[in-house]
Amino acid sequence: MTPVWLMRQAGRFLPEYRALRARYGFLELCRNPAAAAEVTLLPVDRLGVDAAILFADILLIIEPLGVGLEFAKGEGPVIQRPVRTGAHVAALPPIDPAAAVPFVFDTVRTVVRALGGRLPLIGFAGAPFTVASYVVEGGASRDFLHTKRLMYEEPEAWHRLMDLLAQATARYLNGQIAAGAQIVQLFDSWVGMVSPIDYRAFVQPHVRTVMKALTPGVPVIHFGTGTAGLLAPMRDAGGDVIGLDWRVDLDAAWEVLGPDVGVQGNLDPAALLAPPTVFKERVREILKRAAGRPGHIFNLGHGVLPQTPVDHARALVDMVHELSSR
Ligand code: CP3
Repeated sequence: MTPVWLMRQAGRFLPEYRALRARYGFLELCRNPAAAAEVTLLPVDRLGVDAAILFADILLIIEPLGVGLEFAKGEGPVIQRPVRTGAHVAALPPIDPAAAVPFVFDTVRTVVRALGGRLPLIGFAGAPFTVASYVVEGGASRDFLHTKRLMYEEPEAWHRLMDLLAQATARYLNGQIAAGAQIVQLFDSWVGMVSPIDYRAFVQPHVRTVMKALTPGVPVIHFGTGTAGLLAPMRDAGGDVIGLDWRVDLDAAWEVLGPDVGVQGNLDPAALLAPPTVFKERVREILKRAAGRPGHIFNLGHGVLPQTPVDHARALVDMVHELSSR
């Protein structure tokens, strides 16, 4: 049976999550291990997924940088004082995850205890490029021009920022592993914005730093979107499983990656807005392309959209289990 879990499975499409969010701010929820553990476990029974995904955020570890991280209502993350120049980068303090996010490790321990070995817990962190893009842009971006300007014009500062984030990320993930996370996922969500040449020069060395520093023996999922042209260098940077968005055929992408890595993916999250009878064809197609090979984890190509009916997500999980066990 093909395992299935969904990125952002504990997010805003769940009414129970929205009810909690009516009472608590996002950061407040993340900083409260009992509440964050509760949110982590919400989709486990509700959806019947094969893994729990830690409720936290990739940006939590940047708080010690003093850049003014906030989660504005309905807008996603906002960084009040973005880091745009070499002088800004030089002034950044190092990040000590044990001091910055002890609550995340407490959440991991609480969840692992509650799961009692029933299912694995997936811990996660942002990859250096994706986290750097928020720190430099000050929030979400379409074109990543501030990020690319720093990269091209002040390469030394760029590498310094990326190294600072890589060191912190490795310690953040190892802290989650030490607390009991059985799998970790590195999110390079926006890396598809760079060319393969720039990936190799400005991104890959730092992903490698993270991967090489991780506690051995824990499976690592390396995720990105828009990465059709980056699959081989992403694989070379590290990870046991490579995440695929929906803009590639799963079998063609796996062919490029080769047999030594698994793949995660790759249904378009928007497909879940349609009724199950409609998206069933897409699910079948993905399973056909995976052809029952071990090492396929069924997932969406990106996070669950807030508009997704819970019934549809549940139907997807059941469908994957049923179709893949025939
Ligand atoms: O089940 C899960 O996957 C929940 C854990 C999770 C969250 N963020 C909770 C969250 C995970 C794995 C993340 C990772 C994350 N955060 C990424 C990489 C994954 C991806 O989807 O690409 C990124 C880029 C971020 C940064 C971030 N945090 C953004 C862009 C936003 C806005 C999200 C949106 O959907 O609009 C957040 C906030 C956030 N992180 C929410 C949740 C549940 C919504 C917060 C709210 O309740 O308002």
